[in-house]
Amino acid sequence: MDNRPVGFFDSGLGGLTCVTSLMKELPDERIIYFGDTARTPYGSKAESTIRGFSEEIAGFLVKSGVKMIVIACNTVSATCLNHLRERFPEVPILGVIEPAARKVAATCSEKNNIGIIGTKVTITSGAYEKAIRKYNADLNIFEYACPAFVPLIEEGIIDNEIMDLMIKYYMDDFVYGNGLDTLVLGCTHYPLISGSIERIYPRLRIVNPSQIVVGDIRKVLEDGDTLADASERDNVFYASDLSENFINMIDYIFKNETAGTKVKFLNFDRRI
Ligand code: DGL
Repeated sequence: MDNRPVGFFDSGLGGLTCVTSLMKELPDERIIYFGDTARTPYGSKAESTIRGFSEEIAGFLVKSGVKMIVIACNTVSATCLNHLRERFPEVPILGVIEPAARKVAATCSEKNNIGIIGTKVTITSGAYEKAIRKYNADLNIFEYACPAFVPLIEEGIIDNEIMDLMIKYYMDDFVYGNGLDTLVLGCTHYPLISGSIERIYPRLRIVNPSQIVVGDIRKVLEDGDTLADASERDNVFYASDLSENFINMIDYIFKNETAGTKVKFLNFDRRI
């Protein structure tokens, strides 16, 4: 039994989609979340910049006493996972891409046309395709970057006609031109618009890595005998820029799911 928190981080609020999944499946776990809202988005930045930011945040989480770190960001998972594992060997570190790739390979065949959407950095890295092909080299995989989704979602432009237009702008040709039947949401912000994507493309099977990673989190905690019991329930959400928007979006994302859980909002000064 280990009641130290699980650390999560993302460039902003997208990684909260992993947190809600964890809260559903492992409600006894405490959470420390860091959203780098002052420096979002990461997905169009240089890899060296992303690596520097990630190292600062992972270092902060380790100092805060987490028992493991979940990189709740595909962009960081695609570019920095091995680096962070080498830099912080004292805690297990999980990315979101490998678990989703395993699931795609296990549930798709050569008959499926699999689309992956993500940030420019994630798509350019080819990390999803590489990870999926490790398990099945013959699948049909198509990738596409949708860089405007993250800034819109961070602004709370989610469930409205502007987002619908943006989804169609990026995805109509991608979905219909490639005959996609499966879509991987290769950015942790995208589950926040998955309802709209499902409504616009009702025949697509949506794969959500933010949910899938929870199975791997459970396994790490079980294998290390570090699952928590329900005695301490306070979760802490840090943002490098604690805007009203971030607080509103936390309210929007968690709805009633924080019942019984104490959620604190703490501004993180910029001296990371
Ligand atoms: N949620 C991050 C991801 O999964 C968004 C990256 C960004 O800030 O552009 O890739």
